[in-house]
Amino acid sequence: MIHSVISSTAIFAASDIEATLTYYKDVLGFESTWTWGDPPVFGSASKGGVTITFNLQPELAKNIRGHQHGVRVDDIDQLYQYHKSTGAVIVSKLEDKPWGVREYILEDLNGYHLRFSGPMASDVPKSKPLPNEVAILRRKPTMDEYTAVAGPAFHHNDPNPEILEHTWGGVIAQLPDGQTIGVARIMCDAPGWYSMWDVAVVPEWQAHRIGSEMIKAAVELIREASPSAIIHLFTYKHGFYERLGFTKESVSVLRL
Ligand SMILES: CC(C)(COP(=O)(O)OP(=O)(O)OC[C@H]1O[C@@H](n2cnc3c(N)ncnc32)[C@H](O)[C@@H]1OP(=O)(O)O)[C@@H](O)C(=O)NCCC(=O)NCCS
Repeated sequence: MIHSVISSTAIFAASDIEATLTYYKDVLGFESTWTWGDPPVFGSASKGGVTITFNLQPELAKNIRGHQHGVRVDDIDQLYQYHKSTGAVIVSKLEDKPWGVREYILEDLNGYHLRFSGPMASDVPKSKPLPNEVAILRRKPTMDEYTAVAGPAFHHNDPNPEILEHTWGGVIAQLPDGQTIGVARIMCDAPGWYSMWDVAVVPEWQAHRIGSEMIKAAVELIREASPSAIIHLFTYKHGFYERLGFTKESVSVLRL
């Protein structure tokens, strides 16, 4: 038997590719798009690890209203607030479901129902104290460390080597045997302006305060270089960062 199945991508029927991609970017917060054809007959929108492609099929698109597509999300409450703020059409409000997820449904401009689901608030684990054997080191991750830890978390499976060359500083978490289990990158965007990127802890070591300690060390590192620095980050995990003193500047930007 040949096992060559790798991944799957939804292909939605659309009545207008450009209008659909604009809507997915401006209203649903998807980040990157490409199109094929002039005028486009095919296109794609991505967010995190999710990609949806669109095929120009106006007749089919007239009849798909209510067809559901599931999207798994980490911080469902933040994304819900974002979609409310951009005017997305919510057809089923956010709530905990008896089957153990927290979810809401919105309708896109073609009529597809996107069903976003995430963990229930009661599922966010209470963290244990930082284990003694974990060292928090103030240095940039190497490319191997970055790829091993941040790669799976952010779908950077083949990162551009320049990403670390342009990185100002960083923090890593390491075990006594040298294994790196956490990474965080700091960019200096302009004098006095810094941002944090790719903060990640490997799944088996999450909820041990490693993420928190890396952020504290990163903030110290920045403050030593620039005591009144403004620090930004882009996230949908507000709960984690707000515990560390960050405040919301916009739906996805926090500031310290
Ligand atoms: C987010 C992440 C970095 C947190 O690191 P961690 O070491 O697991 O978190 P900590 O143990 O330091 O958590 C500290 C507190 O934040 C809370 N917390 C952690 N993740 C949270 C989340 N997603 N939402 C709300 N609260 C969260 C913990 O419950 C804990 O709260 P408590 O003080 O009430 O016990 C880690 O879970 C991770 O790598 N996730 C995948 C990558 C990612 O999404 N990174 C963030 C990118 S912006």
